[in-house]
Amino acid sequence: MESAAAKQPFSSACIKFWAVVISTMLLILWVCAMQLATVDDKTMVPKSAFYFPNSFPPQRIYESNGYLIISPDGGLNQKRLWVRTDSNFQELVDTGTETSSGQTDRISDMVAIARYLNVTLVVPKFAHGKDRNDTCEFADIFDVNHFITSLRDEVKILKELPSEQKTKLESEPLYYMFPMSFASLEYYHQRVLPRIQKRGILLFAQTDARLANNGLPRELQRLRCRASYEALRYTQPIEETGRKIVDVLREKGPFLVLHLRYEKDLLAFTGCDEGLTEEEAAEVKQLRYSHDEWKCKPIDSKKKRRRGLCPLTPEDTALVLQALGIDNTTTVYIAAGEMYNKENRMAHLAAAYPNLVTKQTMLKPEELEPFIEHAHQMAALDYIVAIESDVYVPTFFGNMEEAVAGHRRYLGYKTTISLDRRLVFGLIDQYKNGTLMWDEFSLSVNKIHDDGRGKPARRTENPDHPVTTEAKRGKSKELEQAISIVGQKEKGIWSYSSCKIIRQQGRNGK
Ligand SMILES: *[C@@H]1O[C@H](CO)[C@@H](O)[C@H](O)[C@H]1NC(C)=O
Ligand SMILES: *[C@@H]1O[C@H](CO)[C@@H](O)[C@H](O)[C@H]1NC(C)=O
Ligand SMILES: *[C@@H]1O[C@H](CO)[C@@H](O)[C@H](O)[C@H]1NC(C)=O
Ligand SMILES: *[C@@H]1O[C@H](CO)[C@@H](O)[C@H](O)[C@H]1NC(C)=O
Repeated sequence: MESAAAKQPFSSACIKFWAVVISTMLLILWVCAMQLATVDDKTMVPKSAFYFPNSFPPQRIYESNGYLIISPDGGLNQKRLWVRTDSNFQELVDTGTETSSGQTDRISDMVAIARYLNVTLVVPKFAHGKDRNDTCEFADIFDVNHFITSLRDEVKILKELPSEQKTKLESEPLYYMFPMSFASLEYYHQRVLPRIQKRGILLFAQTDARLANNGLPRELQRLRCRASYEALRYTQPIEETGRKIVDVLREKGPFLVLHLRYEKDLLAFTGCDEGLTEEEAAEVKQLRYSHDEWKCKPIDSKKKRRRGLCPLTPEDTALVLQALGIDNTTTVYIAAGEMYNKENRMAHLAAAYPNLVTKQTMLKPEELEPFIEHAHQMAALDYIVAIESDVYVPTFFGNMEEAVAGHRRYLGYKTTISLDRRLVFGLIDQYKNGTLMWDEFSLSVNKIHDDGRGKPARRTENPDHPVTTEAKRGKSKELEQAISIVGQKEKGIWSYSSCKIIRQQGRNGK
């Protein structure tokens, strides 16, 4: 330092100048950091999910009460996402209410529970249903190392059981149970923890067991958000490809993601045939009757639609977007599976919104190729674009829709227009039969969606949950059972099919 200064006699003014510049910059950085550190729910600026922290908090040291393995069934949608071709629709439609479907992320619930019980969580190994050919596992979709590391200050997560425990399971049975849905923390403390402590290892065979939504301590609530929206990150190839789409969209200006649920299997499952020709309706109905697990009974499409339990048709969607005042030059990215009768059904929407794009039109075939066979990964690409968009409009409810809406809230209350389908269908019908003029229609559509739009909202409480009374406990299917995994190693010990068979036995036996 000294010799450098000696060689440059005029540098001291320079040094002072730079010292001032640097300290000013540090001050600005500090102010920014403080603002970031103090942002609360109200002042949070919209963030991008592409932000990657470059350091993680230190590991939390605690005495583990045992191992909890979770084996979420029912496809990716039951975890954080959704698949479009599985019996999960059953759950959505059977419950009939938007608020009870998949509003929580099951993995993040399990993280919160593991934290609360001080147990070690074993990374979920996705189960595969017999009708699902997509054998993606957790690590094919999510960045496992990121998941483990970013939560290490709260809970210990392992990729697999330590070998000592695995060896143990070669001679002893593995115990599993079906925890109750929407149960409280108290339930997990009183009913589940003792079992983990007794057995050492416990498998949750069916993790649609969601934690009761209300009354959670704030720190666990935060942990659930962190787990869902920060720790669960897609693998690098998925993130990068999603980002590529987002970058191109951003260059063109603001964009809207339209989650247009109009796949053939959705129509078949819901039994909604509004706007279909007779042949189309027959085709869709036939598909419904070909699925064992779906309801093979007549569905009154009109009645269902009146209750808001049908997806919007592409034609209705165009009307609603126009009524909401979405400019026809807006880039509309359609997040969805394959549209039913795309050419015919999409014509109207495409005419109303000429800048209609999808991942298929935005990426080169070779860019999409690695994901194309995997519904989960394709859905993940849409998810990334959906959380980054300026406006998000889902046309039906489902786990993905709710996950995206939640994620967008987390990123700073980005605009989400969750359509009140029951009211919207009524208005559309009145507009179509001439009861309402366009201006009245538009005004009404706007009016019913003035509130909300992704703003903070209270969760709806389900008065029956958490189920705590002894009577209800008695009939629950939370039976703990043993499963021998001896000789099953080659199949992958948490294989779905074995769980499923045993689950049915459990049900019959109750
Ligand atoms: C979990 O560990 C914390 C200390 O880290 C302790 O205060 C708490 O009582 C433990 N809870 C259980 C259920 O073991
Ligand atoms: C499912 O996977 C099997 C085995 O990999 C394959 O032979 C079959 O064609 C696949 N079915 C579908 C519908 O993709
Ligand atoms: C978009 O809307 C403007 C009027 O707002 C209209 O002049 C124009 O023709 C529309 N373009 C398309 C493609 O519909
Ligand atoms: C128009 O449709 C609405 C909603 O379905 C209905 O209540 C109303 O009676 C209809 N009016 C006419 C004139 O058909």
